[in-house]
Amino acid sequence: MSELAIIGGTGLTKFDGLEITHRQMLSTPYGETSSPIIHGTYCGKSVAFLARHGARHTIPPHKINYRANLWGLKEIGIKTILAVAAVGGIHPNMRPTELIIPHQLIDYTHSREHTFFAEELTHVTHIDFTNPYCDSLRSQLLTAAQQFDFKVHPQGVYGATQGPRLETAAEIDRLEKDGCDIVGMTGMPEAALARELELCYATCAVVANPAAGRGAAQITMADIEANLKQGIENVRQLLAEVIPLI
Ligand code: HPA
Repeated sequence: MSELAIIGGTGLTKFDGLEITHRQMLSTPYGETSSPIIHGTYCGKSVAFLARHGARHTIPPHKINYRANLWGLKEIGIKTILAVAAVGGIHPNMRPTELIIPHQLIDYTHSREHTFFAEELTHVTHIDFTNPYCDSLRSQLLTAAQQFDFKVHPQGVYGATQGPRLETAAEIDRLEKDGCDIVGMTGMPEAALARELELCYATCAVVANPAAGRGAAQITMADIEANLKQGIENVRQLLAEVIPLI
């Protein structure tokens, strides 16, 4: 059985190269996962894959059943999750198609089911979230990244926004003042739920566009898609290198 899962985001709804053994529909106490879990082997290693936005990319960030996704993965024995997520670049050095392995995050989301510690409690639990990402998986990603020509930024602060609209320029100015380097819509509550379940979780972020007010006047879906084409190709190369290390 796989102990490693990849959660694919925008641009990565299918995991090419995965030699699929079976698909598994999962129903959890929180509902169904976004898509069936695809089991297979990749570079000789057992891997499970979950498309965060659904197999046909129809679930927007604020409608994703994050609790079902994380609970389902834990239930089938997953211990490590590598999450792939498209982001906007706020830091001037974080350019479209480049990758970032964030080390911190700030949560600006709201109205999402964001914890497992809400119902039928016998006691109140506060998880430690000082460092929201799993150190060992981050190190493996950074080791694997060393040999590539494309840029993999070894750290960054991820700002998680509610979406599905993109931000205003003033909102991005505020995020920048807060210390955010990149902005995305799916990083939370995913990371916190993984920590609540004691899973090792790290993110590989791929820059789809300069954030609002940081590039061309308007951000178009066509630009995002064009950048992600190359960016996700970079992600695939990194996955091929890191998965055997995990
Ligand atoms: N903002 C938020 N989420 C995103 C962006 C953005 O600019 N690009 C890709 N996901």
